[in-house]
Amino acid sequence: MLKLKSLKKSYLQGTQNIHIFEDLNFHIQKGQRVAIMGKSGSGKSTLLSLISGIIKPNDGEIVLNDTSYNALKESQLNDFRASNIGFVFQNFHLVSYLNALENVMLPAKVNNISNAKEKAIELLKSVGLEHRLDHLPSQLSGGEKQRVAIARALIHNPKIILADEPSGNLDEETGISVMDKLFELIIKNGTTLILVTHSKDVAKRCEETYELIHGNLSKC
Ligand SMILES: Nc1ncnc2c1ncn2[C@@H]1O[C@H](COP(=O)(O)OP(=O)(O)O)[C@@H](O)[C@H]1O
Ligand SMILES: [Mg+2]
Repeated sequence: MLKLKSLKKSYLQGTQNIHIFEDLNFHIQKGQRVAIMGKSGSGKSTLLSLISGIIKPNDGEIVLNDTSYNALKESQLNDFRASNIGFVFQNFHLVSYLNALENVMLPAKVNNISNAKEKAIELLKSVGLEHRLDHLPSQLSGGEKQRVAIARALIHNPKIILADEPSGNLDEETGISVMDKLFELIIKNGTTLILVTHSKDVAKRCEETYELIHGNLSKC
């Protein structure tokens, strides 16, 4: 379902080229849940940005659901991302001037999904936030914000969820309850998951864990 073939990615820092990936190969089956661990700076966020198509590799190929990103124009790739991928970030990335309901409806609107409001309310209920629909992000706790972000990531039924340290900014107990919700929903929907985490306990919830070391993913 997701294939990374001979990926190369480097960044120019000043006059220096920093090589993050020189020949990365990886694949994930549909519905699989994979955790990625690795030291800070090892390239975990870069990997998710490549998979999302937000940044481009210097060489190599990414194929999601039989679609090669190399074959898509920029605008096609943006549409492809919007309909196929859901994101959950460490810092939630909610739109500050939209309330919880409007934030969750956003990907549904972009994808012209019908009954966006009903679906958003249903998802917010399923993460226990039916009493927070009209609250702005600033009026929500960290755990509540992340539950809104999880509902938003799922509303358009993406094929894959990319989560970058989703419990990294939450206290342990809140992190556990947020992860419970995320896993409950993605298992129910059969969604593929790539989860970057520093927590072994969070990683254990996935079927496989890989460590990113020197630009390669090795199975733990
Ligand atoms: N846009 C960028 N320009 C230059 N260097 C970058 C950029 N993004 C990330 N890097 C560098 O690439 C390395 C990997 O970063 P990142 O993917 O964020 O790692 P991780 O998420 O594992 O902490 C770091 O050394 C970082 O400084
Ligand atoms: Mg990171």
